[in-house]
Amino acid sequence: MEETVSFIAMADGTEEDYRLLERLEKPFMTALPQRVLAHLELLKEGYGGYKIDRYQHSLQTATRAQREGADEEMIIAALLHDIGDTIAPLAHGPMAAAILSPYVSPETAWVIEKHPLFQGYHYFHHYGMDRNLREKYRGHPAFERTCHFCDAWDQASFDPNYDTAPIEAFTPMLHRILEKPRWRVG
Ligand SMILES: [Fe+2]
Ligand SMILES: [Fe+2]
Repeated sequence: MEETVSFIAMADGTEEDYRLLERLEKPFMTALPQRVLAHLELLKEGYGGYKIDRYQHSLQTATRAQREGADEEMIIAALLHDIGDTIAPLAHGPMAAAILSPYVSPETAWVIEKHPLFQGYHYFHHYGMDRNLREKYRGHPAFERTCHFCDAWDQASFDPNYDTAPIEAFTPMLHRILEKPRWRVG
C-alpha cells in the first residue's frame, strides 16, 4: 500500500508528514521530462489545415534553432513553444513560458511567452488585424530575439520537406535543461 501522510488538511501536517512528501516528490520531479514529452506528443493530433502536425512543427522549429547554433535552453524552448496548444490554445505562449520559466533565463521565457503576438506579424493582416502589434515591445531586451525566433524558426517551420531532426536528437538536452531549476518563479 502506498505511503501517505497522517493529515487530511495541510495545516494539521507534522514534520514527519512533510519529510515524507519531500521524499516522494523527488521521483515525481525526476520523471518531469517524460511527462513533458508525453504531453508534447498530444500535438500529433491532426494537422488543423497545415501541411504538417504541430508535433512535427515543434521538432522542426527546434531543429532550425539548433542548426543556427542556438544554445540548449533556446532549442528546448523552441521544442516546447507550442506545447500549450492542446489545452490553452488562446494562451499557449504564457503556458509554455510557465513550464519553462524555472529552467531557462527570463529572456528566453519572455520569447516564448510573447511568440504568438510576434508571430502575428506574418499573418494578422489577413484577418484584418494590425500585423505590427509586436512593435509595442520594441526596446525590450528580448525584442530582437523574439522577432528572430518567429521570423527565422517558428513561422518557417511548416515545411513537410524539411529535414527535421527526430525527438531523440533533443531528449538528452531536454533532460539536462529540466534537471535543475535555475530560476524560482511564483
Ligand atoms: Fe505558437
Ligand atoms: Fe509554433
